[in-house]
Amino acid sequence: MSEKIRILAVDDSKSTLEVLKRNLESQGYDVLTCLRVDEALSLLEEHEIDIVITDFRMPQATGLDLIRHVRENHRDVELMMITGYPSISGAVEAIKDGAGEYLPKPFTSEELQGAMDRIVERVHRRRALKAVEVPDETYGIVGNSPGMQLVFRRIGKAAATNANVLISGDSGTGKELVARAVHYHSDRRAAPFVPVNCAAIPDSLVESELFGHVKGAFTGAKEARAGFFEIANGGTVFLDEIGDASPNMQAKLLRILQSKEYCKVGSSVVHTVDTRILAATHKDLKRLVEDGSFREDLYYRLHVVDIPVPSLAERGDDILILISNFLVKFSKTMQCPTPSITDEALTALRNYSWPGNVRELENLIQRMVVIVDHDPIEVTDLPPNMRFSLPMEERVDRSLAEVEQEHIKNVLIMTDNNKTRAAEILGINRKTLREKLKRMEEQE
Ligand SMILES: Nc1ncnc2c1ncn2[C@@H]1O[C@H](COP(=O)(O)OP(=O)(O)OP(=O)(O)O)[C@@H](O)[C@H]1O
Ligand SMILES: [Mg+2]
Repeated sequence: MSEKIRILAVDDSKSTLEVLKRNLESQGYDVLTCLRVDEALSLLEEHEIDIVITDFRMPQATGLDLIRHVRENHRDVELMMITGYPSISGAVEAIKDGAGEYLPKPFTSEELQGAMDRIVERVHRRRALKAVEVPDETYGIVGNSPGMQLVFRRIGKAAATNANVLISGDSGTGKELVARAVHYHSDRRAAPFVPVNCAAIPDSLVESELFGHVKGAFTGAKEARAGFFEIANGGTVFLDEIGDASPNMQAKLLRILQSKEYCKVGSSVVHTVDTRILAATHKDLKRLVEDGSFREDLYYRLHVVDIPVPSLAERGDDILILISNFLVKFSKTMQCPTPSITDEALTALRNYSWPGNVRELENLIQRMVVIVDHDPIEVTDLPPNMRFSLPMEERVDRSLAEVEQEHIKNVLIMTDNNKTRAAEILGINRKTLREKLKRMEEQE
């Protein structure tokens, strides 16, 4: 939280900028300077700026244009105007109206100090307010089911500590989403979140990827390179697919977890790191430990807090909330009206087994929004394997004929009424299928 305050000073006079910079830097502020308003606009995009100090009269756009731009686009930025023309009415009022500071040129360093004190107090107040913003209870993750409520509670706990966390769950359940929620709700949020895919790093590069290397450390090391732990210093390293880490990688990770120290490849200088570790896996890590393919000591270090993420099939009606969220999200990106969906199609989706979990559902809804050109989305718009998951009658007191008829109907839905395909699936010839259908029609 005690991050330095960053100031952007804009003036077409180099000497004024130099005076400002020297003066403000000696007071411990970070100072960026530029001579033109258009440069100022790009600096505002590229950096987190707390205060803009601007001249009034400049070639091209004026300080007033800059102030208007900041008011509209960077509401958290405080403003100060310096001008050699204090009589310009309008300008002074404009800045005072917006609770900004105004300083006539030439100014003494005491006058600058006085104006800065008032403005900095406002920056601190703003930062303090941000810090107590209560995190949304669901961290922007959609779901209400008991399994997800446990996930939310654990995210809250994990975010409040520095403990290592192991996130487990099947592929596509949202493990990375959970990891990001932990990081962005922890007090490390201002430092980087660095995902590392443990399954994708060749064994020979593990050390240099994790810890970096110095120039000339090995053939091909033409430039020095920072490792993941260095980049994440002060923040979080997310070890994704930790169950796939090689024995070599496991050993390297254990060492840095224990000592919080590392050396770059090709150097013996010891660096200390301050990183929080989150790890995720779709594998049963406990079983890997029992099999001897995952180190027990590393396992215990990683799973101080564990967050089990349930599969989509275990989340009950969450799937309906997810569907409606994804319909809104994708129709927004497509800039089309949000389509509705029939109850029958919803039932089919609710009963489907979702082996690819939320990712599969998300992809399906995206595809539906793109390709279905009528409203509502119907069961026949769904892929055949999903249509098939319409509810089977659960009663067991039914005759063979009844069950057969229902099965035939389902196969026809699934094949889009393609009788040849249906006969193939049912293992009967087309003539037999035709006869059965005729009998069914007569009965109805
Ligand atoms: N509860 C949820 N609410 C909204 N979106 C979700 C939710 N869970 C997952 N998603 C979305 O589903 C997709 C898959 O999530 P994510 O990449 O976090 O899964 P994962 O568990 O890391 O998968 P894998 O094991 O395959 O790496 C992402 O686009 C994510 O935003
Ligand atoms: Mg993932």
